[in-house]
Amino acid sequence: MADLSIDFAGIKSPNPFWLASAPPANSGEQVMRAFDAGWGGAVWKTLGDPIVNVSSRFGAIDYAGQKVMGFNNIELITDRPLEVNLREIREVKRRYPKHAVVVSLMTETRDDWRVLIRRCEDAGADGLELNFGCPHGMCERGMGSSVGQEPKLLQEITAWTKEFAKTPVLVKLTPNIGDILDPGIAAVRGGADGLALINTIKSIIGVDLDRLIPEPRVGVASTNGGYCGPAVKPIALHMVAALAREPKITVPISGIGGISNWRDAAEFIALGSTSVQVCTAVMHYGYRIVEDMIDGLSSYLDQHGMTSVRELVGRAIPGFREWGELDLGYQIVARIDADKCIGCQLCVAACRDGAHQCIFTGPDDQTRPPQAHFPGTAPAPRPQVIGALAGDRVPWVDEPECVGCNLCALVCPVPGCITMEQTSGESGDTWNRRVSEGRDKVPGGIHDG
Ligand SMILES: Cc1cc2nc3c(=O)[nH]c(=O)nc-3n(C[C@H](O)[C@H](O)[C@H](O)COP(=O)(O)O)c2cc1C
Ligand code: SF4
Ligand code: SF4
Repeated sequence: MADLSIDFAGIKSPNPFWLASAPPANSGEQVMRAFDAGWGGAVWKTLGDPIVNVSSRFGAIDYAGQKVMGFNNIELITDRPLEVNLREIREVKRRYPKHAVVVSLMTETRDDWRVLIRRCEDAGADGLELNFGCPHGMCERGMGSSVGQEPKLLQEITAWTKEFAKTPVLVKLTPNIGDILDPGIAAVRGGADGLALINTIKSIIGVDLDRLIPEPRVGVASTNGGYCGPAVKPIALHMVAALAREPKITVPISGIGGISNWRDAAEFIALGSTSVQVCTAVMHYGYRIVEDMIDGLSSYLDQHGMTSVRELVGRAIPGFREWGELDLGYQIVARIDADKCIGCQLCVAACRDGAHQCIFTGPDDQTRPPQAHFPGTAPAPRPQVIGALAGDRVPWVDEPECVGCNLCALVCPVPGCITMEQTSGESGDTWNRRVSEGRDKVPGGIHDG
């Protein structure tokens, strides 16, 4: 069985699965139950000067039968006394010395940072995570994402903490920024030992249309909150990968955002994360989800001949290219398995209205627009195929016209009914090459005609 243990900038953990700083890591009792369930580490709910929270404070989007696709909160940092949190951290470390306990921090003045860091390290913290990401409530007071959005300030405060800290310092970044490289590089310049991302995305989750008040409602009003859960995973993956590809980012990354199962975790690790942190999925299903994460990741590593999770870190990075380096000769087309088709016509509507007008059913080809993608190149329509279920409602693809966009395969409700098959590729011709060889003008541009 593959070795799942990690060493994150000196913070050791039996596996890469950490609780993110949030309600599941709010108390010692919870963190110890999480460790018993199998979590390798926890980032304690952010400590600072405790605040008063509002009620209600969470909202969610359900989509197509799935509960909590996206989640939103207007909760702030800890509302429990610092002394109580510190006592519990000490107790957790005494009982679980091999698990990682990172303490998330947020405060204002240089002296506050100094005192907070000393007290957390005295309590036994293995590392510190600076919360420069919270996009609601605290940023209006000059903390959280208001620091994460100002690379100079972020660098300066990180440097203060490095003066005081004896344990590794992680900087947790906000996605509410134009280019994630700016705060990422600033954190490394400030001396950060690691990066953690993403914190939540500034959002309004919805509006109560009867009361005409945004959600989540606090009496007669609401405010913008932070978005997370499965819906944010693509944004988080992109930002993690952007930092992992950047040579100036010389520190490990803790990936966060929509991780719900071992596949999500493996994707983050393959794109450069050393540890992964989870909040919403634990709030939804409880600590037990880590069992499947551990089993799934171990089996995956075994099946792919990797003896440790460290071997997976960043393995998908070489598979990323800038757009200009993609192979322009690679071509796939859609093929429909007539025996599986149920004749729902979703692919026909999608291709006709949202793609390249090249899927037809029976005489529908008569309605084909004169301006197909490559006018004049399409052959005469082929005889229609008859499927087991769908009869004469089975569509057919005019292959030379298909641009291989995937849309029909994405909307088809029958697994394996539409497959995308390669017809040519690996030409080595890229946009960047065309530009360098002066072949970058395509007929139909602004100076033609
Ligand atoms: C209710 C709630 C409270 C949170 N509190 C904190 C916090 O105190 N400190 C922090 O750094 N992040 C906090 N977060 C952000 C999470 O740590 C995490 O970055 C975010 O939820 C994305 O991960 P997910 O998609 O797995 O939930 C909170 C998130 C939620 C939903
Ligand atoms: S891949 Fe795109 S262009 Fe080709 S048939 Fe499907 S929807 Fe149409
Ligand atoms: S190929 Fe798929 S989407 Fe198209 S009609 Fe058949 S079942 Fe529906």
